[in-house]
Amino acid sequence: MQDIVRQLAEKRAAAELGGGQKRIDAQHRKGKLTARERIELLLDPGTFEEWDMFVEHRCVDFGMDKKSIPGDGVVTGYGTVNGRLIFVVSQDFTVFGGSLSEAHAEKICKIMDHAMKVGAPIISINDSGGARIQEGVASLGGYADVFQRTVLASGVVPQISLIMGPCAGGAVYSPAMTDFIFMVKDSSYMYVTGPDVVKTVTHEEVTHEELGGAITHSTKSGVADRAFEDDIEALAMVRRFINYLPTNNRTVPPHRPTPDRADRTESSLDTLIPETPTQPYDIKELILKTVDDTDFFEIQPEHAKNIIVGFARMEGYPVGIVANQPMVLAGCLDIKSAIKAARFVRFCDCFGIPLLTFVDVPGFMPGTAQEYGGIIKHGAKLLYAYAEATVPKITLITRKAYGGAYDVMASKHLRGDVNFAWPSAEIAVMGPKGAVEIIFREELGSEQRIEELTEEYRKKFANPFIAGRRGFIDDVIMPRDTRRRICRSLAMLRNKKLENPWRKHCNIPL
Ligand code: HXC
Repeated sequence: MQDIVRQLAEKRAAAELGGGQKRIDAQHRKGKLTARERIELLLDPGTFEEWDMFVEHRCVDFGMDKKSIPGDGVVTGYGTVNGRLIFVVSQDFTVFGGSLSEAHAEKICKIMDHAMKVGAPIISINDSGGARIQEGVASLGGYADVFQRTVLASGVVPQISLIMGPCAGGAVYSPAMTDFIFMVKDSSYMYVTGPDVVKTVTHEEVTHEELGGAITHSTKSGVADRAFEDDIEALAMVRRFINYLPTNNRTVPPHRPTPDRADRTESSLDTLIPETPTQPYDIKELILKTVDDTDFFEIQPEHAKNIIVGFARMEGYPVGIVANQPMVLAGCLDIKSAIKAARFVRFCDCFGIPLLTFVDVPGFMPGTAQEYGGIIKHGAKLLYAYAEATVPKITLITRKAYGGAYDVMASKHLRGDVNFAWPSAEIAVMGPKGAVEIIFREELGSEQRIEELTEEYRKKFANPFIAGRRGFIDDVIMPRDTRRRICRSLAMLRNKKLENPWRKHCNIPL
């Protein structure tokens, strides 16, 4: 018996060493943690239950029959984060570069199947050279098996990808279909084809970092939701982030008690809106002063900054916040911001997280770049997402709500449950000057006349009371009372039940 126990201990030790100390040291030299170190930091101490540490690949080609490492390049299992069950997959770059073999894929699939059975989130830590080259199509099949499961799990359990090393070729589509992608600066990259192929095909010279680094994807492409300084920060932030999410689509998001009173007033908000309508102000101030404990987890903070999205809590209950940002492009909607917000709205709706929308939007961005880029189809995504969402929807118009953008931003007409406006709200088909130039085209003379008519139009239409008269706005509230009014509305809506008609699936304009 003692022998067997010793053998088991040896086998475990061998598996835990992955590709060996030399490769572990190399990993550390790159500023990266190992697959196991990452899991340790991600999960609550001592909660990790590992599975399949003795799985080995079955490849016999290219001398692979003589090279086998238990675990086969991926550490899998489950544990808890802040006491809640999480399934985890962590690729081990020290073993064949974390490349995905048939057996490696089977381990991932087993985890995904269990996560679905018990309804718990899946966190995947990606650090891999892609398909195991020696295995060929068996490896490609393994990827497809993972893809299929990712799609079936989408909207059922939250799926989060952490990119902590290479992720290239078709392998990028595994994280791409998960709900959130977090990257690490300088040590992770994602691209469909690498710099060498790019150079051959398009003659562009570009580095790994420029082509697919964390900064590129969290600013330009919008593929990544956040970029963190190092592995440690990324893992700590994921632990914080997961607290906003329910474990699956049939449970409620976790409540966290707060000392922040629901009836707290914020008199400074009474002066947030500048005197001149064209002057910007920071909508983030409104967000931070409204939510519990000024605690806001922003998604894509550096991409499409004309719209802000992220998670916060009100009276301890998670909410998804969408807000036009007047500081950037006057807060108008364009292709990138519409896509960013639409995806966020749909995530919240999948997982029962109420939506809080702060509106200050002068309209859609004009121009050939936007039209040729398909603003019609992409803008429609946000409209569609809000219209199909059945979670509680609370909207507050702080200033401008012009034209189609008024409709889009969770208006009453798109089943907004509670629609508030501040006294400074201007709800109209367009801005006063533009309206005057069209309505009074014939009689426009001097600049002075235009200004007079503009002022007249502003007084008459640029206010919340016309919409209020029709019930499109439920109440015009004092800015200082925003938190109290929203908390009450959310409490009233806590048992909201609303279902869309049966269909196989909807057909959002992709
Ligand atoms: C087998 C691999 C591998 C792979 C790396 N290794 N990638 N083994 N299959 N795909 C092995 C290396 O041989 C090496 O083994 C060890 O991992 C570490 O790799 P290094 O090259 O030394 O590391 P580094 O210099 O950091 O470079 C990392 C890398 C590079 C950029 C990822 O290894 C690389 O370019 N690998 C090939 C990437 C690739 O073309 N993959 C296929 C993509 S197509 P030793 O024993 O020397 O330590 C794809 C299709 C998916 O993935 C399709 C899904 C639909």
